[in-house]
Amino acid sequence: MEVIHVSAECYPVAKAGGLGDVVGALPKYQHQAGHIAKVVMPMYQTKFLNTHEWDVVHKGYTNLGNWWFIYTIIKERHNTLGFDLYLVDINGLLDRERIYGYDDDSARFISFQIAVVDWLSSWKHHPDVIHVHDHQAALIPFMIKHTYRYQQLRDIPTVLTIHNAEYQGWLGWDKSYFIPAWDTWKSGLLEWNNSINALACGIRCAWKVTTVSRSYLEELRGSANGLEALFEYEKGKCTGILNGIDTKVWDPETDRYIENHFNVKSRSGGKAENKKLLCERFALDEKKPLISFIGRLVGEKGADLLPAAIGDSFYYIGRKMNFLILGSGSPVIVENLEKARTLSEGDCSIYIGYDETLSHLIYAGSDFILMPSRVEPCGLNQMYAMRYGTIPIVRNTGGLKDTVRDFGEPDGYGIRFNNAIVGDITQAVWRAVQLYDDPVLMDELRRRMMRLDFSWESSMKHYLDLYASL
Ligand code: ADP
Ligand code: GLC
Repeated sequence: MEVIHVSAECYPVAKAGGLGDVVGALPKYQHQAGHIAKVVMPMYQTKFLNTHEWDVVHKGYTNLGNWWFIYTIIKERHNTLGFDLYLVDINGLLDRERIYGYDDDSARFISFQIAVVDWLSSWKHHPDVIHVHDHQAALIPFMIKHTYRYQQLRDIPTVLTIHNAEYQGWLGWDKSYFIPAWDTWKSGLLEWNNSINALACGIRCAWKVTTVSRSYLEELRGSANGLEALFEYEKGKCTGILNGIDTKVWDPETDRYIENHFNVKSRSGGKAENKKLLCERFALDEKKPLISFIGRLVGEKGADLLPAAIGDSFYYIGRKMNFLILGSGSPVIVENLEKARTLSEGDCSIYIGYDETLSHLIYAGSDFILMPSRVEPCGLNQMYAMRYGTIPIVRNTGGLKDTVRDFGEPDGYGIRFNNAIVGDITQAVWRAVQLYDDPVLMDELRRRMMRLDFSWESSMKHYLDLYASL
């Protein structure tokens, strides 16, 4: 099969979160399984762009409303990532340093999608599937099915994977001229709550829709940032397929970002060495349990609860643990975390920013990883943590629910709590501190987790079956 993945992110070219990790891994495993997997993404100004060799494969001329632009498709010459990687260059619009966060993001991602479809319409053959990821690519199923210009593509099967339904790509009707002309009686497909909603449109127009875990799909029918009724209505074409992790990138035995390698057999020494390094760097006490958080500092991740949960943990449990936070996001959360750090007298450290290398050391050197997410479609952090023998403390939601079993259950290994509230987090921290005082059990849980299989092999098979069903 020939599959074209269309996405705003792909690791290691450009990544803001888990979307990048997934699009950097799934096609690689599909390619290894004997299929042709191609990834098409915007050409941002990244280090990867400047350190690799590229061939121009296509140049085209198209329009976003009345703005006509030239786009160029370039391909990475040596297939370094294990699949064919194509970048779409639109001068002045996509070639910027950041992926998101510009005022003209709608224009940027709609132009990107138009360029992709325009390029595909110049091909002499049709791919077997176009697999689009999140709202930045979710208008493609509509464009190929209902716009006059791209009618020749209308029979290509499409799959939309929803990594996060909180972000939907809203666009006022005054900007509807961005989208190439379509049958006006199909306008309802674009509309949700009086505006154009790219994700809602993708859910209606894609042949199949997947979410990145089963529990998340169930939850979306009750809570989907306004799209609940649509998920209920379209449930027949939706499937939950759990993400895998790239076990080549995330392997404590070979990880290129850490110095002290270890495996399930050498776990206790290996983890201790990494913890020592981490604690030295952040002036933490290596004898105390280290509870870390990595992620976007936003409400969705429950990051706003961290400052109070840290304060309450010290108050009610005592200074028996250390906290380490790596993340960036809301300035209010950052300010509150700074206050919590000041009050912690050295038992809490924070690093504001994005640092891939540090994240690997944190997975390797921490005892626990805390994820108090309000919404977690899948979550990769807990799976990376477990592969590095780090016990996840997670809220019972979405993909966290599907991947973490509480150590109080038979064959369990993690810590789960029910509500995204300070009291539940503090209680879970208390359980972690108790557990840390039992080194034999800690070690057994590490052994269990490190043996779990979260690789892409089985998830990838589900995607291949889904494509075949189209
Ligand atoms: P999401 O995509 O919702 O942010 P995931 O758990 O799926 O959450 O994936 C997050 C990915 O981003 C992981 O690879 C995690 O290690 C990484 N990450 C998040 N924040 C940071 C940060 N500040 N520095 C380095 N890596 C980060
Ligand atoms: C999203 C979700 C996260 C998921 C990731 C990859 O960013 O928030 O839970 O793991 O996509 O699918």
